[in-house]
Amino acid sequence: MHKIAIFASGTGSNAAKIIEHFKDHPAIQVAVIVSNKNKAPVLQVASSNNIPSIVIDKERFYTTSTLIESFEKLEITFIVLAGFLWLIPQRLIEAYRNKIINVHPSLLPKFGGKGMYGMNVHRAVKAAGETKTGMTIHYVNEHYDEGKIIFQAQTLIDQAQSPEEIARKVQELEHEHFPVVIERLLKE
Ligand code: GAR
Repeated sequence: MHKIAIFASGTGSNAAKIIEHFKDHPAIQVAVIVSNKNKAPVLQVASSNNIPSIVIDKERFYTTSTLIESFEKLEITFIVLAGFLWLIPQRLIEAYRNKIINVHPSLLPKFGGKGMYGMNVHRAVKAAGETKTGMTIHYVNEHYDEGKIIFQAQTLIDQAQSPEEIARKVQELEHEHFPVVIERLLKE
């Protein structure tokens, strides 16, 4: 059995799609949601699906191993970042080497790095006059958005599109592909 921890701090629409996709799956289970915000809407998604959640503060996240210890108890085998903005600490990367993936709302390596998240990305894409954008799923290493790319999907940008419209298109791609890519990776 693969047991996934999803890290999310925003709306949690990707987390919700992943939870829905693996509901009743015989070999893959979303076992815990981790958030750094105690009011993140994603925590509602977790509780309405009877999935436990952990709210982590910055100091505990960066200076202790308590999260890893909780994951050992829960037998977590894979970590999915879905709208989680903190850099992953070295000890967690070592404990889960090549078992942490992230979704990013651009065609990396373009529009990645610290500060490039959510609407900031889509505004930058629009300002640069890009003709296409998309989403990237990649392994997580100790640098923001630099791990090996696993999957990308793209969409064309019409010059009349606003950053909000671009965001909606990219989220559609994320919802369509992220759960399926996770399933494929865990079957390999
Ligand atoms: C997603 O679009 C994801 O690509 C982005 O945050 C959004 C979370 O949406 N992640 C980043 O920008 C990471 N740098 P959600 O909470 O509705 O799933």
